[in-house]
Amino acid sequence: MAGCCDPSGYRRVFSSAQAAKAVRNFERKGLDGTAAPMIAALQERGIFGSTLLEVGAGPATALVTLLEAGVARAVAYDISPSYEKVAGALLQGRGLQDRVEWRTGDYLAADDRNDADVVFLNRVVCCYPEMAPLVDAVAARTGRLLALSYPRRRWYTRGAIRVMNGYLALRRVPFRVFVHDPRAIAERVSAAGLHPVASGGTATWEWRVWER
Ligand SMILES: C[S@@+](CC[C@H](N)C(=O)[O-])C[C@H]1O[C@@H](n2cnc3c(N)ncnc32)[C@H](O)[C@@H]1O
Repeated sequence: MAGCCDPSGYRRVFSSAQAAKAVRNFERKGLDGTAAPMIAALQERGIFGSTLLEVGAGPATALVTLLEAGVARAVAYDISPSYEKVAGALLQGRGLQDRVEWRTGDYLAADDRNDADVVFLNRVVCCYPEMAPLVDAVAARTGRLLALSYPRRRWYTRGAIRVMNGYLALRRVPFRVFVHDPRAIAERVSAAGLHPVASGGTATWEWRVWER
């Protein structure tokens, strides 16, 4: 669990209102510009009947898409206690709730981490201060395919995130966003025995899929 009082402030940033807005956007416009191509790349390599681990599942929009694309069962973590209800309603609305085990809490604090064929983290590594243990933990649990997205390390992403973190500090929210080094992320994943098979991105985000 993220702690009884959420000392890192995830609940204030990743709130129920934020989750509900993300679900409305998903229902109107579909997935965001990183989740959609990441899932397409996974589908090209075959995910039918596989098990999934999603860390930072948020409003469960990618999760329902992956389940509807053929993933058999999933374990989903999110550190923010605000997401569970909204994600649960989306899963229930599509009759997928029995195929998902939802765990609220910090993935790295869990003592019963499971292996999965497919591991998916969209825009999550940048929301956690400790890149190395998070990437090492999810890479170690990947049976076949790992998909990660993170901000590009460009002057404009770093500038925007500095402004965002300044705003959070002014509002006394302890949560921060991080631009972890994409090369260091890729090196850690390679060291875990995975090799890159697909990549892409937008002006601000990049994503990559690795296979074991
Ligand atoms: C920017 S949101 C992205 C949510 C979702 N992946 C999406 O693309 O809509 C990042 C999410 O990661 C979660 N998160 C960050 N670090 C985490 C950790 N160590 N364990 C579990 N969840 C985490 C946050 O609570 C938040 O919901």
